[in-house]
Amino acid sequence: MNDILPDEAALWMFVEQTTRQLLTSYGYGNIRMPVVEETRLFNRSIGEVTDIVEKEMYTFNDRNGDSLTLRPEGTAGCVRAVLEHNLLYDGPKKLFYEGPMFRYERPQKGRYRQFHQFGAEALGFAGPEIDAEQIVMLGRLWRQLGLTEVELQINSIGDSEARAQHRAALVRYFESHQDQLDEDARRRLYTNPLRTLDSKNPAMQALVEDAPKLADYLGDEARAHFERLQSLLNAAGLAYRVNPRLVRGFDYYNRTVFEWVTTKLGAQGTIAGGGRYDGLVEQLGGKPQPACGFAFGTERLVLLLREHDVKAPSRQLDVYIIHAGESAAAYAMQSAERLRDAGVAAQMHCGVGSFKAQMKKADASGARFAIIVGDDEVAAAELSLKPLREPGEQQRLSLDAVIARIGS
Ligand code: HAM
Repeated sequence: MNDILPDEAALWMFVEQTTRQLLTSYGYGNIRMPVVEETRLFNRSIGEVTDIVEKEMYTFNDRNGDSLTLRPEGTAGCVRAVLEHNLLYDGPKKLFYEGPMFRYERPQKGRYRQFHQFGAEALGFAGPEIDAEQIVMLGRLWRQLGLTEVELQINSIGDSEARAQHRAALVRYFESHQDQLDEDARRRLYTNPLRTLDSKNPAMQALVEDAPKLADYLGDEARAHFERLQSLLNAAGLAYRVNPRLVRGFDYYNRTVFEWVTTKLGAQGTIAGGGRYDGLVEQLGGKPQPACGFAFGTERLVLLLREHDVKAPSRQLDVYIIHAGESAAAYAMQSAERLRDAGVAAQMHCGVGSFKAQMKKADASGARFAIIVGDDEVAAAELSLKPLREPGEQQRLSLDAVIARIGS
């Protein structure tokens, strides 16, 4: 769990502001959920036999003996809130949230126990247009942030019958090749045969390559959905790779799953992930509603921006105001507020210090101008303006003339 210090936080604010603006422009409204939920919400939605629920949740009993969990992700809480407040009463909704998530994972570069996500959920949309729009929207976000080397991978994991049939076929296949299975694969044969498809054991690769493919079990509707999605992405001119091994670690997904991946961050290369979860609303007690969503990890995005040497655009200070004496301080403060009314980014020296020491601060602040206020300026109701980054003499001017000069 990290502190995010001001140097880095500038990049965070750039990501946050850009994302909020983009999501809003695609019609997503902001929703804010609590960071703790009842534990059973996550057990029911993410799935009892997933890594997150089995090993990674921060779960505790409150003083009342109720089991609560720090949210490991946002989809479950978002759907819970939508149902609790009946947000779908007047049709589909597009929502986004941001904030900390908690997973007890082994920390390493790009993987933390408290991390931050932006997530978007579109509820009530059945067709593949919304899947495509979310993916295209992320592509636009990367461009707006200045990222180039992120690869889009997509897959369809079909509906639950297809997955059950595929699983049964896998068990039959591995059973008939028992002699070639390594220890892990043998142990998982009946509990989690899908995991064997991710095996890194070179001796298993040929076996895994020839294993039954989920794609061959997709039903007609799921297949048509996936084909439409691909033609929409093609029409949008977005490059992607169909990765038949992409499955994602939550039980709520069906049909479309996707990830944006980079090779620049070592093992933690997935920047964003998402997909369809048409069964979750009903599973959590609502009327059936199709849905699709995604989340990206802000830490990973910021790391990647640093790799790309992207700098946060920063607003430069226009003026640094220095002053000597009590009446000068009061006049400087008044002037600073009037400058700010006119849109000038002004910083006033706070505290004491000789003119020389204050001038050094003005220089170090990066401001374009210093404004100097002494007794003479107070008496004349003027300000002395000194350019710090461009040639030019110090000038005594009225406040309006100062504003005009800074704006020029
Ligand atoms: P997820 O793939 O678990 O999906 O997380 C989304 C993103 O959060 C990841 O791609 C990664 O960038 C970031 N992330 C995950 N774990 C960590 C970690 N320990 N440290 C740093 N970053 C991390 C979800 O959470 C789904 N709720 C996404 C979704 C929304 N699907 C549908 N709607």
